[in-house]
Amino acid sequence: MRADEANIESRPGRRAPIHPAMTVRQVAADYPACGAVFRRHGEPERSSAKFGHLEPLDHFARRHGISLDMLLTELSQAAGVEISRADPSAGRAHRPFVAAALVVTLSLGAGWGTLLLFEIGRQGSLASIPAAQVVAHGEAQLWGFVVPFVVGVAVSFLPRTTACPHPHRALLDLLLGALLAGVLGEFAWSLATRRWPWLGPASGFAQVVAALGFLAVTAQQLAGKVRAPWARFVLAAAAWMIVWAVVDLALRGRAGPVGPGAYSESGRRLVVELALFGFALNAVYGFGQRLLPGMLGGGAPRSGAIEAAFGLHNTGVLALAVSHVQWPSLCATLGASAIAAGAVAWAIGLRGFRSQRRSTPRPEAGLAFLVRYIQLAFFWLLAGLALLVAGQLIGAVQGIDPPRAYLGATRHALTVGFLTTLILGVGQRLLPILSHDLLAWPRLVVPIFVLIAAGNALRVAAELATLAWPIAFRILPASAILELTALVLFAANIFRTLWPRSDPLLRTGRATPATRVAVLLAEHPWLEDYLVAWGLRYIGRVRSVPAELTLGSLAAGEGFDPEATVARINVLLSGNAGRGQRPGTPGLPGPPAEG
Ligand code: HEM
Repeated sequence: MRADEANIESRPGRRAPIHPAMTVRQVAADYPACGAVFRRHGEPERSSAKFGHLEPLDHFARRHGISLDMLLTELSQAAGVEISRADPSAGRAHRPFVAAALVVTLSLGAGWGTLLLFEIGRQGSLASIPAAQVVAHGEAQLWGFVVPFVVGVAVSFLPRTTACPHPHRALLDLLLGALLAGVLGEFAWSLATRRWPWLGPASGFAQVVAALGFLAVTAQQLAGKVRAPWARFVLAAAAWMIVWAVVDLALRGRAGPVGPGAYSESGRRLVVELALFGFALNAVYGFGQRLLPGMLGGGAPRSGAIEAAFGLHNTGVLALAVSHVQWPSLCATLGASAIAAGAVAWAIGLRGFRSQRRSTPRPEAGLAFLVRYIQLAFFWLLAGLALLVAGQLIGAVQGIDPPRAYLGATRHALTVGFLTTLILGVGQRLLPILSHDLLAWPRLVVPIFVLIAAGNALRVAAELATLAWPIAFRILPASAILELTALVLFAANIFRTLWPRSDPLLRTGRATPATRVAVLLAEHPWLEDYLVAWGLRYIGRVRSVPAELTLGSLAAGEGFDPEATVARINVLLSGNAGRGQRPGTPGLPGPPAEG
């Protein structure tokens, strides 16, 4: 049995409401009393497949000339269950968050960062750009790219995995609005503090509202799951987000009309640490436990190691936070070491990220190559944490902070090497799943990987090299071009995936290997009998097909030649053009025999 089929078939005994997108076969199988309603409206008996075609109820009603409301009422009365009018946009809640994350990173985030790096390269010094401009870039990346991406994944993924109702639309609008107000307000305040001194605290307040909104969403979704380690990581991410937002608000309030140039080094580092380790890493560890085993094809996570990771990691974040007010060297070294130990424990819990999945030609299974992003990201997590611990130890021994270039390289290893590489990899796998679709341009997966891997390696190496050879400053801008290009290609791929072109069948009337089986059978339910008669038995067995299953993939999975199958279907479609007939109609090629 295919994995998709297993998902579809795994809800025995559930008295779910009936909704218009369900197929005739699904409703007849779940609620046998509905069979009589369908028969009365013309659904034929067949011995070759289960009763009822894989035709959605709204298509069935339209094709039989009956009102959808009447059909749903009859089915609901026969089954004794309610009708669902669930808002179809609820399943697409991630889209505005992800779109906002991409727009912000390409403009105020990586776009602005590229200009800064060119200036650094031109002048040959990290001190050549004002601190306020660096903070503006850092805040835009963290609050405007990382946060909306994580929140977007959470608001769509959590209801699917916990079976809780979708978060309320108004709450999501408030969350996104507060995030954008925070990011835009902070950026404007950083660059024009004297003009809008009040924007700093106001944008900080908006971020506190966003953090509370995220806590409300996660608490509602995970209320019954606190025992599960993955849920505790996600709740910890939400809690640290509030601490981060409050610290940010305090910094902005104190800086007032002077702007972020007045932040202390310690304050700037605290904000980045809370964002990276408190919010982002907890979220990655939590969602990663649910998502990565599927992507890597490994077994279930080892719970002992994961529990240890939770304790070590969050103790480490706490120690790092304390280091900014008390015992700086001791707490910072302990904190960085505990976070590094937590990362190792988590990697052990996830069985070392060894991919056990064999390469598969099925496009809906995602590209096997995406696993490389995960492996590279965790290499950089461990490398970045090693640099962090080494920096703290050397600083503690020598009694001075590590040089700026060293801190910059360490941070970049964590923000881009780890976090951004992970976002690019998981994004290209998970976002198509959340949208029930395929990645728009799978051929971009390898180039994006090469660009981000090369750009980040160049940046970290060149920034470290500036400590010995100032000429290395000249190379730095090249890394920005590589990374920005990776982000542009990723954004293009994701936008096209989230807002896809309509299926080729709907545009041209002809099937291709990329045609979705669900679309084909919704438009031409009569074709189903041919497919079953040809031996594509999967179609006769299931109650509905996954929205992302393509014709080519279905044919290959059943041992058929995809091109030949598509050609046969097109012969039938051209013979039946515009008539919507069932097999057996005069003029159709080779109606299948029953039995
Ligand atoms: C094209 C990609 C990027 C470029 C060109 C870039 C450039 C820069 C530059 C020039 C600096 C200041 C110099 C230094 O400390 O090394 C910096 C700092 C920083 N960057 Fe980036 N960056 C990029 C991507 C990112 C991403 C994806 C993130 C987060 C996910 C990020 C987060 C930060 C943070 C937090 C800081 C420190 C801000 C502070 O000190 O307050 N950057 N970046």
